[in-house]
Amino acid sequence: MFTKKTVRDIELQGKTVLMRADYNVPLNSDGSIISDYRIRQTLPTIRYLLDQSVKLVICSHLGRPEGKIDPALSLKRIANRLSELLEFDVGFVSDCIGMEAQSAIAGLGPKQIIMLENLRFHPEEESNDNNFAAQLAQGIDIFVQDGFGVTHRAQASTEAITKQLPSVAGLLLEKEVDTITNVMSNPKKPLAAIIGGAKIADKIDVLHKFIDIADFIAIGGAMANVFLLAQGIRVAKSTVDRDEIPVAKDIMERAKAANNRLVFYLPQDGVVANSLGPAAMTRIVDWSAHVIAEIESYPRQPSGRTRFVADDEMILDIGPFSGAFIAGGLQLAETVVWNGTMGVTETKGLLGPVGPFAHGTEILIEAMTGQFGHRPYSLVGGGDTVGYIEARRLTGSFDHVSTGGGASLELIAGRTLPGVAALMDKDNP
Ligand code: 3PG
Repeated sequence: MFTKKTVRDIELQGKTVLMRADYNVPLNSDGSIISDYRIRQTLPTIRYLLDQSVKLVICSHLGRPEGKIDPALSLKRIANRLSELLEFDVGFVSDCIGMEAQSAIAGLGPKQIIMLENLRFHPEEESNDNNFAAQLAQGIDIFVQDGFGVTHRAQASTEAITKQLPSVAGLLLEKEVDTITNVMSNPKKPLAAIIGGAKIADKIDVLHKFIDIADFIAIGGAMANVFLLAQGIRVAKSTVDRDEIPVAKDIMERAKAANNRLVFYLPQDGVVANSLGPAAMTRIVDWSAHVIAEIESYPRQPSGRTRFVADDEMILDIGPFSGAFIAGGLQLAETVVWNGTMGVTETKGLLGPVGPFAHGTEILIEAMTGQFGHRPYSLVGGGDTVGYIEARRLTGSFDHVSTGGGASLELIAGRTLPGVAALMDKDNP
């Protein structure tokens, strides 16, 4: 149960509200928005606030401008997108503090919205500066935290601000925290965890947690390469952080110690190529040696053996055996937590979003969304993963698609999020 006060627990009628959102959305090189998922997910809170006739001031960060003004990271485009989605005017203020912001706030009427410029154009945001927070709080009655994706950071607009204003959660934050904590504390078993992505380092605590509570763990993405290397399997030019080998060994040891109740699965085959492009020639490499006959035309290099990754090749996806094994495991699960794609899904296809290294991820999506008959409860998190299913227009096919990257990982690992801890408790009058 969510223990913090939310917008439903506080008198808001006619008040001036500062709402923190996480509109740190992925952008194309021309600045256009790749995915507006994070923006759309805040609409219920915004609509709720407007129904209470509040004067609404929205703030967010975008990217990592490191305390300097960077026009490419302006929130102006985000304000325009929000306005389109709401079909409602959203004003824009070119600084988040100072005279311009103050007069725009003072001029707001009930049910009017303004968005402030990127908080991180000021270094004081990331340094959690009290003075900066006091400036943000000027002219504001109540603070609403709805930027779940940034609540793992203790920054001025997540922590210091709560010392200035009565601070409650928005509806998105409540939904995210409630859903993720419920799944982690009381999952319908069997519980499967699919963990991919680039580095083990970002997910050590999550892996430890799942070794404790899951029935099935499958590893994919570039992080699988470290585990393979740690077992002496050649990975050639694959992305691999050799410094992580001891961590991988430690995780495998922990998993082995739990082997009477846990399936810990590492890919047994992979899709390899010597370039990342959409037209890359791929071949299957099966290091567990299930391939006993080789088709002359299948290997990219006819002379290459399918059991080994060649010197110029990279493992860029899990292979078909692995995909089928994991998909089968998911058919036996009642709950799936998925974080990280299985391959380089960033490479798009020549004709659509599914590129040559996305097939492992695709088969898991099919398994999770019930295409093979059984549909487990699915919780999906992580920026790349969500970006991919957004591009596939499949966010509605999962039970919960988190807006958080680092924040969802920390919550899954059981850590306290400073931006949530700082809000008023429900049982505090
Ligand atoms: C995110 O995208 O995970 C959040 O917006 C936090 O961004 P940050 O990692 O730059 O703090």
